[in-house]
Amino acid sequence: MRKLFPYIILIVFLKCSLVTLCYSQQVQNKDSLDRKWWKEAVVYQIYPRSFNDSNGDGIGDLQGIISKLDYIKSLGVNVIWINPIYGSPNDDNGYDVSDYRSIMKDFGTMEDFDLLLKGLHERGIKLVMDLVVNHSSDEHEWFKQSRSSRTSPYREYYHWWNAEQGKPPYRYSLFDVNHDAWRYDPLTNAYYLHYFSRKQPDLNWENPKVRQEVYDIMKFWADKGIDGYRLDAFQFAAKDTTFPAFPRGFEKNFNKYYGVQGNLHGYLQQMYKEVLSKYDVMSVAEGAGNTDEDAHNMVDADRHELNMAYAFDGVGIATPEGYSLLHFKEVFTKWDSTFSKKGWLSIFLANHDQARLVSRFGNDSPEFREVSSKMLTTFIMTMRGTPYYYNGDELGMTNAGFTKIEDYRDMPTLNEYQHQKNIGGDLQKFLKRIAFECRDNGRTPFQWSNTENGGFTTGTPWLQVNKNYKTINEADEEKDPASVLNYFRKIVKFRKDNLVLVYGKYAVLDKNNPDTYSYTRELNSKKLLVLLNFTNKNAATNTGINMNNTTVLIGNYEHPSKDGILKPYEAVIYQVN
Ligand code: NOJ
Ligand code: CA
Repeated sequence: MRKLFPYIILIVFLKCSLVTLCYSQQVQNKDSLDRKWWKEAVVYQIYPRSFNDSNGDGIGDLQGIISKLDYIKSLGVNVIWINPIYGSPNDDNGYDVSDYRSIMKDFGTMEDFDLLLKGLHERGIKLVMDLVVNHSSDEHEWFKQSRSSRTSPYREYYHWWNAEQGKPPYRYSLFDVNHDAWRYDPLTNAYYLHYFSRKQPDLNWENPKVRQEVYDIMKFWADKGIDGYRLDAFQFAAKDTTFPAFPRGFEKNFNKYYGVQGNLHGYLQQMYKEVLSKYDVMSVAEGAGNTDEDAHNMVDADRHELNMAYAFDGVGIATPEGYSLLHFKEVFTKWDSTFSKKGWLSIFLANHDQARLVSRFGNDSPEFREVSSKMLTTFIMTMRGTPYYYNGDELGMTNAGFTKIEDYRDMPTLNEYQHQKNIGGDLQKFLKRIAFECRDNGRTPFQWSNTENGGFTTGTPWLQVNKNYKTINEADEEKDPASVLNYFRKIVKFRKDNLVLVYGKYAVLDKNNPDTYSYTRELNSKKLLVLLNFTNKNAATNTGINMNNTTVLIGNYEHPSKDGILKPYEAVIYQVN
C-alpha cells in the first residue's frame, strides 16, 4: 500500500553508486563459488493465519500446517519462512509480540511447534522464523513495566519523551490513524515512540540490555533447532535518541531519515558475534536501507552482518495503473549488479504485505491468469538470488475482489480509511486503491478444494475466502498436469537441477524492448537463455543470439517458441549451444 508503506516506494530513488562492485563481466569459475545452502534454497512463505485451519475456529494454525507437510514437500521447496507465531494480542496479526518465547494461542502450543519443526526437518525442509524486534506489543511485560513509572528499570527499553520538554519532534507513523509516531501516555506524562501502530512501541536498541534480551530470544529458538531469522523492519531499529527535527517536508521520507541510522551495522555485527556465528542459520533483513552501500554492507560476508538483503524496489513497481517493464528490468538489473561480487539478495514479487502476484504483476483475467502466473514464476526462479515464493501464488490465487471496507481486516488499512474520513478524503478512490493493493488481498485463506470455504475451515474464516475457490484450488490443480501448481513444481525442480540459475552470471539482452524480458545466465561452459513476454499479445525478441543454436528446455506453453517470437505471457528457457 503506497501510503501505508512509503518506504517501499521511496526506495526507488536509490542511487547506483557502487561502481567498484560491477564485476559482472568476470568469468566465474566453479571453484570460486561460495556455495551456501541458503543461496541454493527456494523459500516458501507460509502465512499461518490463512494456510489451514485444523480445529474449525476459522483461523489457520500449526496443526493445520502439519497436516499439509507432504503437500509442502511435494512443491520441492526446501526452506519455509513462517510469519510470526509468538504470543500476541494480534493488533497486527502477530507483528506485535507480547511473549517471544511462547506460541500464539490461536496457532496452538509449543508441542505443536516442536512437531512442526520435526516434521519439516524429517522432510529435509528448513524453518526460518520472523524476528520482530524493532518493536514489541504494548502488552509485553517490558512495556507494561516501562510505562508504569519513569524510574522503572524497563523505562529505557523503549523511547520516551517527557511532556515537560514540550512536544517531541515530529515522527511519521506508518500505521497510526493520525500518522503521528509519538503517543502521549498520561500515566507518566510522557510520549512513547511507535513507527507502526500505537500497540507496537519501538524498542530502544541503543540500550545494551535490550540487545542482550533479543540475543537470548534468538538463542532460545536456535537451540530448539530453527534454521534462520527474517528480521522484521530491522532497518528502522537504530535511532538518534536526541530526536533531532527532520527538515520540513521530509518527515515522511522513511528510507532517508528512518532507515539504517546510527549504529545499525554495529548492532548487526554484535548480533552476528553473539548469535548468528554460533549456529548454522540464515539471516535476512526486511528492507535494504537508503543507499546501495547500506544494502551491500548489511550482507557483505566479510563484514559479518547478515546473509541476504530483501529490497523493496522490485515489489513496489506495480501500481493500479500498471507498470513499465523497462523500469522493472532496470531495477532487477541494478540489484543484480549490486551483489554481483559480494553479498546476496532475495528475489520476490509478493509476500504477506502485498496483493496477489498475478493480479499485480500479471493478468488475472480467465484467459491469461494461468499463463501469466507461470511466466512470473519462471522469472522468480531464474534470477540470481534466493527466490521467495508466497503461499497460494503457486495456485495462481488472485486478489480478493472486496468492495466495502467491512470486508477488510488489515489494521493499517482500517486506520487509513478512518484517517481519510477524518481529513475528508475521497473514500471511493481509497476503496478502489485498496481493492488493487491492500495486503488482505494476499491473505485470503488458501484454496485447498472446491468444497465450502475452499476447504480451509469448517467454521467461519477470519477473512473471507475468495469466491473463485471453485475454479482455483489445490485439489483440482493436482489432477491437471498443465496446472499452475504443477508448472511451479517443474520450475522449482528445474532451478534445483541447474546450479547455473543460482550462481551463474546474469546479463540482460534486448534491454530496450518494452514487452519482453530476455537474459542469460552463465556458469563455466553452461549458458541458459530466458525469454519472457510480459504482454497479452505476441511479441518478438531481439537478443542477438542465433536461435538455431539453442535448444528449448522448458516453457509455459505446450509448444514453446523456438524462434524467439513469444505468445502472450510466454516464458521459455533455452540452452545456448
Ligand atoms: C513488516 C511486516 O512485514 C508487516 O507485515 C508488519 O505489519 C510490519 N513490519 C510491522 O511489524
Ligand atoms: Ca484454528
